[in-house]
Amino acid sequence: MPQAVAVRPIAFVTGASAGTGREIALSLGLSGYDVALVARRTAEMEAVAETIRQDGGEALVLTADVRDATALEGALDAFLAWSGGKVNVVVNAAGYTGPLSPPIGQFSIDEFDSTIATNLRAPFIVLSRLLPIMRAAGSGRIVNIGGNHGMRGRAGRSSYSASKWGLRGLTRSAALEAGPDGVTVNYIAPGPIAVPRMKANWRALAEQRGLSEEDALKAYVADMGIPLNRPSEMEDIVAMVLYLVGEGGRNVTGQELVIDGGATL
Ligand SMILES: NC(=O)c1ccc[n+]([C@@H]2O[C@H](COP(=O)([O-])OP(=O)(O)OC[C@H]3O[C@@H](n4cnc5c(N)ncnc54)[C@H](OP(=O)(O)O)[C@@H]3O)[C@@H](O)[C@H]2O)c1
Repeated sequence: MPQAVAVRPIAFVTGASAGTGREIALSLGLSGYDVALVARRTAEMEAVAETIRQDGGEALVLTADVRDATALEGALDAFLAWSGGKVNVVVNAAGYTGPLSPPIGQFSIDEFDSTIATNLRAPFIVLSRLLPIMRAAGSGRIVNIGGNHGMRGRAGRSSYSASKWGLRGLTRSAALEAGPDGVTVNYIAPGPIAVPRMKANWRALAEQRGLSEEDALKAYVADMGIPLNRPSEMEDIVAMVLYLVGEGGRNVTGQELVIDGGATL
């Protein structure tokens, strides 16, 4: 009798070199997916890919600036050649905060464009290519990593907030289009996450205010008005991604899953 060949599902993850996207790529790889990783920093992605390979999976590193449509299309071509045209899960996690404090009128149109290109246009390009494949296959899970600034506004974060609101619209529309074909599309809206980049900010805040790191974090959490009194950990976001792409998430689509300790209540 011929032996069954175990075929691993395939995931495409942007922003896989650092922070939350890196943890998502790694967790998918260690949960049985073959994973394609996209970002600009190759060495960081190679380290993740190596861990996945050592665990028995396959991984493909695709170095691309997602703001560059041609580069992103090239990465998608290489991905589909590698995957044999198959894709089960897409996670758009690459993100850029853009200008951090200047009000509208004090930063350039180029900076606005750069934020939109990273946080909104890149997921659109990825969906343009991979959503039709999932629809034709009759299944697929897409998770867009937005932010709680896509659920509210924030002074000094206009371009970021606009890009994340836009991503919600893209998510809901794609969910409506692809639902009848068995594809789910969801949006995760994290508040502050304790990624290395944010931890460095909190250390800088501690130094500026002459506080211990613990007290600086408490002050930050109070400033942000987080009822649960803590930032999210990367694991909190990873757990939601695994839920959405797993069996439990099969009837969940077009949703905004807010993981921010209650900050946007
Ligand atoms: N951290 C938070 O507090 C927080 C809160 C709410 C929402 N989020 C969202 O969560 C997602 C992950 O953020 P994070 O803070 O965990 O990650 P991070 O540490 O800021 O890393 C960002 C990731 O996105 C990639 N990226 C950024 N610009 C890119 C570009 N032009 N081309 C290709 N890749 C690019 C980076 O890779 P390279 O630098 O190697 O290109 C890196 O892998 C983002 O969408 C972010 O907006 C984060």
